[in-house]
This record gives sequence, structure tokens and C-alpha cells, in this order.
Amino acid sequence: MTNATATAARRTSLHGFWSSRMTFILAVSGSAIGLGDIWKFPYITGQNGGGAFVIVYLLCVFLIGLPIMISEILIGRRGRRNPVTTMGLLGEEEGGVRHWRLVGVMGIFTGFIILSFYSVIAGWTLAYILHAARGEFTGGDATRIGEVFATITGTWWRSAAWHTLFMIMTVFVVARGVQRGLGQAVRILMPTLFALLIVLLGYSMASGQFAAGVDYMFRADFSALSGNSVLIALGHSFFTLSVGICAVMAYAAYLPQSTSIMSTAGTVVVADTIVSLTVGLIIFPIVFANGLAPDAGPGLIFRTLPLAFGNMPAGAFFGALFFIVLAFAAWTSAISLIEPAVAWAVERRGLTRVKAATGIGVVVWALGFATVLSFNELDHVQFLRGSIFDNIDYLASNILLPLGGLLITIFAGWVICRNASADELDVGTSLAYRSWHFLTRFIAPVAVILIFLHAIGVFTL
Ligand code: PHE
Repeated sequence: MTNATATAARRTSLHGFWSSRMTFILAVSGSAIGLGDIWKFPYITGQNGGGAFVIVYLLCVFLIGLPIMISEILIGRRGRRNPVTTMGLLGEEEGGVRHWRLVGVMGIFTGFIILSFYSVIAGWTLAYILHAARGEFTGGDATRIGEVFATITGTWWRSAAWHTLFMIMTVFVVARGVQRGLGQAVRILMPTLFALLIVLLGYSMASGQFAAGVDYMFRADFSALSGNSVLIALGHSFFTLSVGICAVMAYAAYLPQSTSIMSTAGTVVVADTIVSLTVGLIIFPIVFANGLAPDAGPGLIFRTLPLAFGNMPAGAFFGALFFIVLAFAAWTSAISLIEPAVAWAVERRGLTRVKAATGIGVVVWALGFATVLSFNELDHVQFLRGSIFDNIDYLASNILLPLGGLLITIFAGWVICRNASADELDVGTSLAYRSWHFLTRFIAPVAVILIFLHAIGVFTL
């Protein structure tokens, strides 16, 4: 046992442990599966032309995202502290450089930015529960549904009110401690979500345009794919898996030593991917069957899914249930977006969880107004990538997440010694270990750098 190994083995969790491996898998799945799969994946697929984008996204998920998730869990469990302290601690132990803590700081900052817009969209989801339950979608009239969407997003105080409610819900759970309750909630949520997706998939299959939807999602025309689209696919693979931001790292600090990291990460990544692809297969047939545009932007699911509910038997019930489940899925993701910051404030600043969560919640809530307003009062402000929201999302998802992921792979692959990573992953020098190590050292960092350079036009293919 090296010195580093001995220290790591002695470190214990400061916040207790997940009650079982299953709870951890549920918590990380709860973080991964959310608006990214259901709201964002379909609309960015639509904006980037379908098939080729989906294939690049899948490659990024399995060749880059999965190894990073394994790295984050490994690092988190070894450090057993909030991400800032953990990165500093391991950086010092393994390479003598404490500055690695800045990766944790960047993760916290990125989490703030993402949560600020995430909460606004999640707020729309809450509003949709009411609209669906009141039967407003019944009959499936696209114009009327468009009006409902425009009313919610177009009135700043409505959007702000729902955003406020969602932030309160998030802060409430985080203040109580994530281990309590989260596992339980996800245990009920996931099966319900899967069941509802099957119902919707059945509807889409019967919609008459299923083949067109499948075709759109999987027929790849790479010639139409720009460097920027490839960067968006990369960024989204990180966004959807919750990696590159130290969120999974924060959760892994509470992971019991005996859990297998590789199979845990594999399970989460496969589940998340199945959900995203299923949602795509639900949305695009509805888009084509109703003559809608696949590139409608952030409103896509809010304009398409109500059409499905409006036309199916007991649609008000299924619709309300679906948006409840979606709000829950968003909730379990939002919690993981501020956990790193709260863990840091509690450990390093000595605040109580309640104070830390509330303070941080207020900051993120205020930041959220930039997104709220970019769909109404400030919708005329367009620059660089589009609206204010588009720019905030682009910065966080397509620049900060890949950058965080890049630094995490370099750290896990090059700074942490082989002994330590093999010890933590506990699969000996098996093929699984060697594959992870190779992807982490070479493929993932090189791919991220090339995709960055390609997107800014340094070279073209
Ligand atoms: N993965 C979440 C989703 O797909 C969003 C998220 C990103 C959560 C980063 C935590 C960290 O909705």
C-alpha cells in the first residue's frame, strides 16, 4: 500500500453514507435523468439536423462521458470531501499541486449557472401540471397549446413565480441533506417515468409518422454537421450525464467503499441514454404528424407533448402525471447541481446546511431572472448565440462543462497514479480497467481538445 492509498483508506465521510449501492445508483440516475433528456435533447437534436448529431452524441456519451463519470466517482470517493477540498487534497497527495481545487471551484460556478436556467424551465413544467390537469390540452389544438406556452413564458412574473417555487423546493431538500429522502423519491419516480414513456411511445408509434421520426433521428448525413454542432453534441453528452461539473464527485463522497464504481457508472449511463433516445422517438413522430418544425427551439416539448395528451383517452390525467414526473426528474437533478456548493460551504465555512442552502439558493434564484426575462421583456436582446438564455446555456454547457471534463480526465488519467486508481476501481488490471485508463488518458482529452479547436475553426474536416 502506498502512502496515498493508506491515507485515502482512512478518510471517512463527513456527511454519512448512502444506505446502499442501489441508493447511490438511484441518486446519480436522478441527477442524470432530467430536463436534459426530455426537454433539451429533442430540441437541440432538432436544431442540429437529427441523425448525424445523435450519432456524435452517442459516441461522446460512451467514449468520453462514461470514462469521466467513472473518474469523478473514483475521485469523489477517494477524497470524501466536497469537490473543492477533494481536488485540492488529492492534487497534493498525488502530484503536490493544490491548485487542482480550482476544478472544484469551476464546477460549483458552472452548477450555479446551469441551475439558474434549469430552474426556470422546471418552473414551466410545474405550470404545465396545472394546465394539463385542467384539461386545457384536450382536443390537441396546436394553436391553443402554443398560446398556453406563450402565456407562461411570455409573462415575466408568471415565469418568475414558477421559477421561485421550484427553487424553494430544491433548497428545501438540499437543506435537509441529500441522503435522506432522495433515494426514496427516485425509487418511485424512475419506474413511473419509464411507464409513462412507454405509453407515449405507443402513442407515437400509432401517430402515422413513426418511421419518419426514426429516420430523422438515425439517418446520418455528416456533411450537414458543423463544427459547432459537434461541440454542442459533446457539451450535451456531459450535461445529460451530469459530468464535468463535480456533481457526481460530490455524491460519490458518500459512497461506501465496497461498491463497484464501473458497474454503477455503466448502469447510470445506459439508463440515461435509453431515456433520451426514447424521448426522441416520442417527440419527432408527433412533430411530423402535426406539421410542426423540429427546430422550434426550447419550446419543442411544451408544444408537442400536449398534442399527444390532448388526443389520447384520459389525456388530462396522463398529461398531468407526465409533467409531475418530469418536475420530479428535474428536481432530483437540480438538487445535485447545488450539492457541491452546499457541501463546500458546510465543510469549509462552517455554515449549517440550512443557511448554506438558503444563501446559495437566493444567489441562483436571482441569476435565474436573466433566463426568465430572455423569453419576454428582453427577448429582443440577441447576440452571439441568440437570446440571453441561449448564451448562458452555451457558455455553461458547451464551454465550461467540456473544460471541466477535460481537467477531470487529465487529473484521473495523468495525476492520480495507477496504483491509486486501480485500488479504488478494484477491478485489478482487467480489460475494463485498461480500457478506462486508455480512454481517460488519451481518447477523452484529445477528443475534447480537437472538438474545441474544430468548433472555433482552427481546422475543418
Ligand atoms: N443531467 C441533468 C439533466 O439531464 C442536468 C445536470 C447537469 C445535473 C449537470 C447535474 C449536473 O437534466
